[in-house]
Amino acid sequence: MCGIIAYIGEGNAVPVLIKGLKKLEYRGYDSAGICVVENKRLITVKRKGRIEHLEKHPGLKNINSSLGISHTRWATHGEPSEINAHPHLDCKGEIAIVHNGIIENHNSLKKLLEKEGHKIVSDTDSEVIAHLIEKFYSSSLENAVAEALKLIEGAYGLAVIQKDENKIVAARKGSPLILGIGKNEMLVASDIPAVLQYTRKVIYLNDNEIAVLTNNSYSVMKINGEKANKKIHKIKWSIEETEKKGFRHFMLKEIFEQPDSVKNLLRGRMKNNKIKLTLDMDVKKIKRIIITACGTSWHSALIGKHIIEDLTRIPVYVDYASELRYRNPVIKKGDVLIVISQSGETADTLAALKEIKSKKCKCIGIVNVVGSTIAREVDSGIYLHAGPEMGVASTKAFSSQVLALLLFALWIRQEKGYKIDDDLVRELKKIPEKINIIVKKSDRLRELAEKFKNSTNFLYLGRGINFPVALEGALKLKEISYIHAEGYPAAEMKHGPIALIDRNMPVVFLATKNNLSDKILSNMQEVKARKGRIIAVANEKNKEIEKLADYIIIVPETLNILSPILNIIPLQLLAYHIADLKGLNVDKPRNLAKSVTVE
Ligand code: M6R
Repeated sequence: MCGIIAYIGEGNAVPVLIKGLKKLEYRGYDSAGICVVENKRLITVKRKGRIEHLEKHPGLKNINSSLGISHTRWATHGEPSEINAHPHLDCKGEIAIVHNGIIENHNSLKKLLEKEGHKIVSDTDSEVIAHLIEKFYSSSLENAVAEALKLIEGAYGLAVIQKDENKIVAARKGSPLILGIGKNEMLVASDIPAVLQYTRKVIYLNDNEIAVLTNNSYSVMKINGEKANKKIHKIKWSIEETEKKGFRHFMLKEIFEQPDSVKNLLRGRMKNNKIKLTLDMDVKKIKRIIITACGTSWHSALIGKHIIEDLTRIPVYVDYASELRYRNPVIKKGDVLIVISQSGETADTLAALKEIKSKKCKCIGIVNVVGSTIAREVDSGIYLHAGPEMGVASTKAFSSQVLALLLFALWIRQEKGYKIDDDLVRELKKIPEKINIIVKKSDRLRELAEKFKNSTNFLYLGRGINFPVALEGALKLKEISYIHAEGYPAAEMKHGPIALIDRNMPVVFLATKNNLSDKILSNMQEVKARKGRIIAVANEKNKEIEKLADYIIIVPETLNILSPILNIIPLQLLAYHIADLKGLNVDKPRNLAKSVTVE
């Protein structure tokens, strides 16, 4: 959940590290720090709070160093503070480390090290790593790191420097780490945007690999000492794609990008009513599909269940990855697992994937970040090609995930010999333009947000395929505006939650046309009768809806199976504007990080 960037080269390390940290801030932002080597001395500067705060630190002025490591933190062990911020140093102040992950046996390692005379000053789990490396250090940093890692249990992305050695040693187990291969400069980072300004050539480290980088060389070995042969990947994203392009926030930019991101998903995959996917499986053998994910990706999985069951009649089971991984699930012949993850690095999702894979189940990934750990672990998959998603609140990844699941279902139909419905294909092609119509209503949604920004609770209600949209709308609101919100199947209200309704309760209804429209109207009646304030997402202002709803957001009509992709857009915008009007940090909400690489 933290961000690491390290640099060695001919340039000045400090500005490279600061810029890189800013690109990684989405991974955590409660404290940050830098350590560089200058004249065979380690200089360490740390600060509580954001990177801008660190950048202004007088200790960083006039440093001339071409080797350094840095870190932006999302606290897991020990409160956000200067002392707990990384880099952490050994007792002599000669070795410095930055770490992302959790060292599970840090308590026992701490006891062992303290017995040997090491002084551990922070409350973090990470600091023991610096002391362990010190314990094993004689003349080679990589050997000392390798020895230290043998004692460590848990997850790590790690970068290490030593005052006399002109190199960076990096290691990975369970937490993402890439090497950026430049011209007379090398970088180590938790994610690609941090290195893009310097190089497009990257190497993905695998678990249990250790890399050694100098100005103009790199080598990678396995923890057991064997050489690892690594492929260099060329990154195609542009730097602009990772920037805000004039929008106030990444989240708003990413909401507005959805007409293009869904087009990118469809590109080359749908031609003349034929679906082209390269998935490694025999569809005739599929008896059951299990989908696992976390957060927003789990919501798209719930929609995927509706879509896949409807179009293929194959039963689908959806499970939170954090639950599935520990349940010893029953996996049978004919089962297929789909894992959904924007980042491809979510720890619980990855662990669930590994658990199911170990039971010899075929695994498919629906992932956005190319080359991410989940993308590399699955047997085959569908990349979203949505471009980098930087806002902590997931938006464009959601619409693309739903569309990817639809393509998957259509592909199964096709492989089973069924023709793909012309109406569906026609409507699919219109989706980008229909999203465009909705994002243009952003100002209208801001006016609505103004009316509701001081509410302390919200309910989101939907039915059928739009129930997960209600869940996702509520998640968007709570994570960025800190307003309590719940998503519910509309018909469940009378089994309890209706007791919450009074004139202060805004209730967002997903009331677009489908076979349950009349039922939704009855559910709206129930809320209206108790004086709830209704916001309806609907296809038209017909008399019945006008009678019941206080506010109506019109979205273009589409097929029910495609409606979640359109219906979520106004809910994303409503959440965005409420949070922005409340003056909150939309892209970096409190207590959250973009990529949850810890359990
Ligand atoms: O990268 P992933 O899709 O695996 O992430 C899963 C969740 O952590 C993520 O969707 C989270 O819920 C977002 N903050 C929601 O906006």
